[in-house]
Amino acid sequence: MSDKAILEFGGSKYEFPVVQGTENEVGIDIKTLRGSSGMITLDPGYKNTGSCESGITFLNGEKGILRYRGYAIEDLAEKADFLEVAFLLIFGELPNQEQLHKFHEDIKHESHVDEEMKKIINGFPKSAHPMGVLSSLTSALIAFNPTSVDVASEEAMYSAIVRIMAKFPVLVAWTMRKKMGLPLEYGDDTMGYVENLHKMMFKRPNKEYKMNRVVIDALDQLLILHADHEQNCSTSTVRIVGSSHAGLFASLSAGISALWGPLHGGANQAVLEMLEAIAADGGDTNKFMAKAKDKNDSFRLMGFGHRVYKNFDPRAKILKKAADEVLGDLGIEDHILDVAKGLEKVALEDQYFVKRKLYPNVDFYSGIIYRALGIPVEMFTVMFAMGRLPGWIAHWREMRLRGEPIGRPRQIYIGENSRPFAAMNNR
Ligand code: ACO
Repeated sequence: MSDKAILEFGGSKYEFPVVQGTENEVGIDIKTLRGSSGMITLDPGYKNTGSCESGITFLNGEKGILRYRGYAIEDLAEKADFLEVAFLLIFGELPNQEQLHKFHEDIKHESHVDEEMKKIINGFPKSAHPMGVLSSLTSALIAFNPTSVDVASEEAMYSAIVRIMAKFPVLVAWTMRKKMGLPLEYGDDTMGYVENLHKMMFKRPNKEYKMNRVVIDALDQLLILHADHEQNCSTSTVRIVGSSHAGLFASLSAGISALWGPLHGGANQAVLEMLEAIAADGGDTNKFMAKAKDKNDSFRLMGFGHRVYKNFDPRAKILKKAADEVLGDLGIEDHILDVAKGLEKVALEDQYFVKRKLYPNVDFYSGIIYRALGIPVEMFTVMFAMGRLPGWIAHWREMRLRGEPIGRPRQIYIGENSRPFAAMNNR
């Protein structure tokens, strides 16, 4: 393979180096394009643009492969727990027993949230969307942890990472408890990371909390499956905000806002609402399929399609099986699962979806499991954010350690040319 790409334009030739990743992905390095030719590239939605080199997550959309730091998502979902995966994503290697113990102990040590934060959360109306609350609380944490991270110091970086890994589950739990009118409580440091998250979310003031292994394992798996997905919208947001040297918590807060949208993490809530609407309408999947295919109708089949996966989303495959197992183990019969399976079957045989390579994505089945775990629909995207936290942290850390420049795309201007100022009486 040639290690150069040649661009010909206006009678001139420009040469660019070709870079190759460890999985043989190939990219044209156009850093010198504007300087040498005066031109830029135009790629709305960045469908063909690599924004960075990254060693965290590999995915191959054509083959349906997803690996964190080289480990297959199928293995991690089955054999690791969320905290191990978080350590792996952030620091690059699976922790040994001692490293994992230390990481967890350090997190426990930081797992308090300033009491004053309760005033902030209590200022929100109960009707506030949990994602808006979570993003605001994450931002508000900065006021209580004002020291900026010295990224040249691994120790300072580690300390910031531990702080947010510790406090974020409290914010997630408080966000849900506020919505449900439950008192805002702190965690139990005798428990595992995910057990503690679940207890903080669900402990009733007048009832003893009883742990259910099926529930905890299902939650653990969901968090692992959402933990990273390379340069998606929210992760790119975290990286670009962080590239201005804004702090970790500020970058994360921006990432949460990006995740909220229904074309990204907000799809899990939208999927369940869509399945409920189909069921309430009598279960006629064909009617909704027709709407999804109608170009004059803005309706899309939520939970279907992916920017990168054009064969299948390996996370959806794991979750479809998990949905059956979890509902079975918990003895729940949910007609929504049947609607989802029916819809998937029809869509996978429909030429519109086949031609465009639209398959169920991670959000298609996750909501059904969240619902079986008793998590309210409006909290689904918050759970996604909880899972994605280590991925965002890993990317922020990688970006800062690599000393990446501030993210600042260019544009092709299509507005008015220079014109004289129009006085008020002349407009
Ligand atoms: N329902 C109906 N048609 C769809 C859908 C869908 N869910 N997804 C894509 N299409 C169609 C588009 O209309 C377009 O058709 P056209 O070629 O005739 O114009 C074609 O498929 C390609 O779609 P794009 O929007 O160009 O694909 P893109 O890569 O930009 O978007 C996205 C990917 C945003 C995920 C899209 O498939 C979508 O909106 N899906 C529904 C929302 C969703 O489930 N989001 C979660 C994604 S996973 C995640 O973020 C965790």
